[in-house]
Amino acid sequence: MGDVQQHLTAGGHLDRYEAAAERDPLEGLALLSGWLRTEWRPLFAELRARRPILHTPAFTLVTRFQDVSEVLRNGDIFTVRGYASRLDPAIGGPVMLTRDGTPLNWREKGLMQVMLPPEDVPRVRALVAGTADRALDAAAAGGRIDAVGELFRPVCTTVCAEYFGFPGPDPGTLARWSRAIMTDVTVNLAGDPAIHAASLAAGREMMDHLRGVLDERRADGGGRDVFGRLLRTVLPGELAWDDDRIAINVAGLLLGFLENAVGSMTHLVRQLLLRPEVHRAAVLATPDTAVFDGHIWEALRFDPFLKVISRVCARDHVLAAGTPRETVVPAGTLVLAAVASAMWDESAVPDPDQFRADRPPHPQLHFGHGPHACVGVHPGAAVISETVRRLVLRPGLRLLDPPDGAVVRDRDVFPDRFWLGLGAPDRDGEA
Ligand code: HEM
Repeated sequence: MGDVQQHLTAGGHLDRYEAAAERDPLEGLALLSGWLRTEWRPLFAELRARRPILHTPAFTLVTRFQDVSEVLRNGDIFTVRGYASRLDPAIGGPVMLTRDGTPLNWREKGLMQVMLPPEDVPRVRALVAGTADRALDAAAAGGRIDAVGELFRPVCTTVCAEYFGFPGPDPGTLARWSRAIMTDVTVNLAGDPAIHAASLAAGREMMDHLRGVLDERRADGGGRDVFGRLLRTVLPGELAWDDDRIAINVAGLLLGFLENAVGSMTHLVRQLLLRPEVHRAAVLATPDTAVFDGHIWEALRFDPFLKVISRVCARDHVLAAGTPRETVVPAGTLVLAAVASAMWDESAVPDPDQFRADRPPHPQLHFGHGPHACVGVHPGAAVISETVRRLVLRPGLRLLDPPDGAVVRDRDVFPDRFWLGLGAPDRDGEA
């Protein structure tokens, strides 16, 4: 289903889902999960209007802004315990994302916020600008670039290496670890044992590697990267963390960042380039990053990489109490908070189908919301903004006609290739 017109498609999803679910609940769920990838805008528009809180045998889907926000704000009721069984065994222990309002979450999130401060943004932008420009220069002669493999992934693994201080043995291995673990954590809702086993194997390799480099990093005095900063901060004393806590939090830098950043850049660049007038306006805005950023976060709203955030309901809870959609969510329910839908809810985002680069940032949920909101938001947002800024500054940047220009995903939701044209169009069939 295509892009700019997606939201104009007629409804009928709810009726089709219910008819299929009555025949066979699994058939209904298969329909829903397909639409979540390809027809999410009309599906969510219909659900917001007709069934804002949809109960299915496998999960409850929440689609209005106010209710998504209620789910994400109330960490004591809508918990992250569902992540723990997949992520903790892979990295060998608990981490802030798998622990609700515990001392561990409070302490480690607080410290990691200090480790990833907004003051790092200029330095992160400079690192990204140099890396992106070199990648774009190398591709320019060929008149095209695979934005995923030649730009987004190399920029992100360079940020891991030089800013986080976690280069791994090589960029390919770093990317392989991250992909295997995040596939299990975010995509494997059905609990496929092979995906889980691949994540455990990758996690073991990664944690052995990180423990192996700890002493070396201590001996070199830490350096200017986040890993070094962390090692200097948690010296024995009040803040002493053992090696496991340090290694797990460094692993969290890679896992929170890489796939989210690559996926988000892929989605938003496509949305920018689908709208020539928006593309032109974004190019004109490049001298002022604040104005430019309005374009990219709005483009991401048109196709967020992360469509839903999952939680498990800890006790029976009346969601949307006092409204006509008031619903009891029973303890144990898997709740999918549809952030992609919330950002299209006209009660929070006026005229959601209009592309407006000057929207206020508060209804944006790209970096989560509430107690688990992204700890890496400042450097993470800077990586996305600067990479895309360097890209749109290239003359002749354009989508290629399908199949060349399609976003290719070899296995799951993570993009593997996305070819873009650069320079003067000189091939038949190019857009
Ligand atoms: C420096 C880069 C990044 C780091 C180190 C990082 C790390 C993390 C961590 C550790 C969490 C869990 C926080 C908690 O449990 O309290 C988190 C949450 C989150 N991050 Fe990031 N992240 C980065 C970049 C990004 C990017 C680029 C995106 C997407 C555009 C993103 C989207 C999110 C979202 C949506 C959540 C909320 C998850 C939830 O509530 O279940 N992050 N991030």
